[in-house]
Amino acid sequence: MVHFKGSDKLAKLIHANQFLLPVINRFGIRLGFKERTVSQICDEFGIDENFFLTIVNTYNNEDYFPESDLLSFSPRLIIDYLRKTHSYYFNYLFPEVERRLERVLAGCEGSCDDLQLIKKFYNKYKEELSKHIEEEEDKVFPYILAIIDAWENKVPVPEKFKGYSMQSFEQEHTNVDQKIYDLKNIVIKYLNASYDDNDCNAFLYSIFQFEKDLLDHARIEDKILEVKVIELEKQLKNG
Ligand SMILES: [Fe+2]
Ligand SMILES: [Fe+2]
Repeated sequence: MVHFKGSDKLAKLIHANQFLLPVINRFGIRLGFKERTVSQICDEFGIDENFFLTIVNTYNNEDYFPESDLLSFSPRLIIDYLRKTHSYYFNYLFPEVERRLERVLAGCEGSCDDLQLIKKFYNKYKEELSKHIEEEEDKVFPYILAIIDAWENKVPVPEKFKGYSMQSFEQEHTNVDQKIYDLKNIVIKYLNASYDDNDCNAFLYSIFQFEKDLLDHARIEDKILEVKVIELEKQLKNG
């Protein structure tokens, strides 16, 4: 698997993997790249190039783990990126999956039991994932920002975060990852064949896209953010 470099043209990244588009949008980069390279665009937009490359390569290759010198950027950048990803789920992916499911439902005549069951499963999943994201936004990220602040400015960690550690958060991704796979599986195996094929496929594709983005998101949280925060915690303890 190739690793993208700063000298690669941005257009090449999108030809290699079109699903990188929403990822680069989170950096404020939009279509119309012309012949510009990753380095040139990062320069133009004031983006940390190492951070950009870490994110696109992690997305593109699930076995990719950045070299330690690539991890020189601040965890603040990761949190900002993750927050934008959360908004993308609420503002685009959830509504998109729902629009497509409603379209399949609109073509349903008769009992539609299988679809109602899928809708119920989806709603429960959405509730669970939303809770997980809320916990990150309300507890985990504020804790991490406090740790960074303590480390950067040599100030004590605020009282309300005392006794917390990265490991104390019950941030299990296995559960949310498994459930979106189950949702996909139910549609593939048990959706009644009486609906419009193209509407069903479009609905399924949107779940695939959601799953791909979600797995990547969880990898960034576990393999990059968590690693960096644990390192900061150690330095603070020894400091
Ligand atoms: Fe998250
Ligand atoms: Fe998460």
